[in-house]
Amino acid sequence: MRKVPVWALEPGMKIARPVYCSQGTLLLNAGLEIKSEYIKHMQRLGILSVYIRDNIIPGIEIEDIILDETRQEAKKLISDFALEVQREQKFITPKISFAHQGIKKVLKKIIDQLLANPNLIINLSDIRTADSYTFAHSVNVAVMALTTGITLQIPLSRLLNLGIGALLHDLGKVKIPIDILNKKGKLTPEEYEEIKKHPRYGYEMYKTQRDYMSATSALVIYQHHERMNGEGYPENLRGKQIHAYARICAVADVYDALVADRPYRQAFQPHVALQIMGSAVDEFDPDVLRAFFQHIAAYPIGTLVGLSNGLIGVVIHNQAGFSFRPKVMVLGCKEKGRFEPLKPYELNLMEKIDIIIDEVYSVDELPAAIIKRDKRLLKEKR
Ligand SMILES: [Fe+2]
Ligand SMILES: [Fe+2]
Repeated sequence: MRKVPVWALEPGMKIARPVYCSQGTLLLNAGLEIKSEYIKHMQRLGILSVYIRDNIIPGIEIEDIILDETRQEAKKLISDFALEVQREQKFITPKISFAHQGIKKVLKKIIDQLLANPNLIINLSDIRTADSYTFAHSVNVAVMALTTGITLQIPLSRLLNLGIGALLHDLGKVKIPIDILNKKGKLTPEEYEEIKKHPRYGYEMYKTQRDYMSATSALVIYQHHERMNGEGYPENLRGKQIHAYARICAVADVYDALVADRPYRQAFQPHVALQIMGSAVDEFDPDVLRAFFQHIAAYPIGTLVGLSNGLIGVVIHNQAGFSFRPKVMVLGCKEKGRFEPLKPYELNLMEKIDIIIDEVYSVDELPAAIIKRDKRLLKEKR
């Protein structure tokens, strides 16, 4: 299973993870064979990548860190909640409270699932349509913020406040015109100023809640774009002036934005996103960054990697705490610039610390010999 850009899909490939539309309804289910009309439909919906079953190493499944149904439920609830709050801002109805209660319930489910997971490592990024971006992004940010919160040993009783803040951090975006949010080109200064209003909008919308309870969650919403060096917005706060949970949300938020396909660019690969963030240390809380990095697979399962000793293989396992040292199934080696297949074998980079990953192949660079791998070609060469 691997993530493939929609432009590189070919009829006959099989979907490995379900694709949902913005309303949370199923668009393409796992196992479905791709037809050319599906590709066109996905392009119309602004879907840039999907997970497909691959033939390189069949049978490798990538487990999501929470249940798919919980993820869909959370997305639907934020979307309902955002629309209700936007519509009913002046008249607080019991329905809004109901949506808020639903959000708390789904967050408890997410927290329980994370706590029950023995290897908290994120290998997947959720596939999203252009118009469902904010909701899918919000659930990812909540899951990653909570994972980081658990690592930082935030007490269970307070994780919910972090979760609510992270899940609703971009609530204010419902007030920003969609053509600005999804603009393909560079934003004008006026448009950027408009976008910068969303933390305040979200904060104000959240505070209209009848069962509004958590000042902490409200601060996460308000401060998630503040940066440690004072160069964030809306208040240019610095360091510890920013609430600890908003500092966690900021890290998860930036990472998820980097690894997502956007209308104006294709996603960065996780190892690149982690490098970008690692080099912006003055923007983020270093303790948060350290805790966060432990749970993100720099090379998710299914990534085709080149190793410093010339071998080429596919990542088959990642261990929390060792995000840059996965287990790799070696498939071949580079010889005089050409790919030479080898009999596959496992190599655990946690045990071979002298070997590093120095190359990641994207789908258009896959060595032809791997794409058209034929078992007869594999030599007993080890
Ligand atoms: Fe935001
Ligand atoms: Fe965000």
